[in-house]
Amino acid sequence: MTILVVGATGMTGRLVVEQLLEKGHEVRVIVRSPDKYSAEILKNPSLAVVEAAILDLSDEALADLVADCHAVVSCLGHVMDFRGVFGKPRRLCTDAAQRLCSAIEKNNPREPTKFILMNTVGVKNPQCDEPRTWIERGLLFLLRYTLPPHKDNETAAEHLHENIGKNSHHIEWCSVRPDSLIDAEISPYEIEKSPVTGILSGRPTSRANVASFMVELIENVNVWSDWKFQMPVIMNAEE
Ligand SMILES: NC(=O)c1ccc[n+]([C@@H]2O[C@H](COP(=O)([O-])OP(=O)(O)OC[C@H]3O[C@@H](n4cnc5c(N)ncnc54)[C@H](OP(=O)(O)O)[C@@H]3O)[C@@H](O)[C@H]2O)c1
Repeated sequence: MTILVVGATGMTGRLVVEQLLEKGHEVRVIVRSPDKYSAEILKNPSLAVVEAAILDLSDEALADLVADCHAVVSCLGHVMDFRGVFGKPRRLCTDAAQRLCSAIEKNNPREPTKFILMNTVGVKNPQCDEPRTWIERGLLFLLRYTLPPHKDNETAAEHLHENIGKNSHHIEWCSVRPDSLIDAEISPYEIEKSPVTGILSGRPTSRANVASFMVELIENVNVWSDWKFQMPVIMNAEE
């Protein structure tokens, strides 16, 4: 299969790239700094690297990059420094999701392309009644109006729910919501429709598990049929 990954130099995105290459897929990436990859990965003939900031690419270039892709994975996230959080682009994840989805639609693919968005457990699934305590609601309200990256994660997920929906002939989507990210090896993990703990007492989720679940979504038709058009929460299994 051919898969485009964006946010592919990030701590999760690079694991998605590595796992896809290990499984023999053709992987395209759009990255600002290819030098973040090892020489060994860059030599892999199944990896095609486009050096650019995704939002600087033209609509035509994006349409070329998503052409013939079985799946598009976005692991974009704001760099956690003052400029990354408060500077432009404030709608990195949302604008990238919108433009990649438009690029897919423009190509009129015969089979729907899978669009997999890395999101967060802090974003509510509008399809489910996900109860939140008063403290959580207050905290999320504050985050929404003070931290642009949180709002960006919300509007990126909204785009998939409201603008793409479930009836597109060209796109099927899944918005993966990790709990608190940690760096650890692949291990047993759980997938739930909604958060099982409060967002303030979240369970750790290893980035390798997030990557592994995204690869399962791409490769396994049953896993895809279970989770498409949903916002699964992923967390490491309790020991
Ligand atoms: N931290 C947590 O506990 C947590 C929990 C749940 C969900 N999340 C969400 O998970 C997502 C990914 O997390 P992560 O830790 O894997 O991300 P990360 O390591 O920070 O990687 C972010 C990626 O986005 C790219 N990027 C940042 N700004 C960009 C820009 N202006 N233009 C183009 N590319 C840009 C980075 O490229 P460069 O390498 O070039 O900078 C990098 O590839 C985020 O949306 C985050 O909100 C985080």
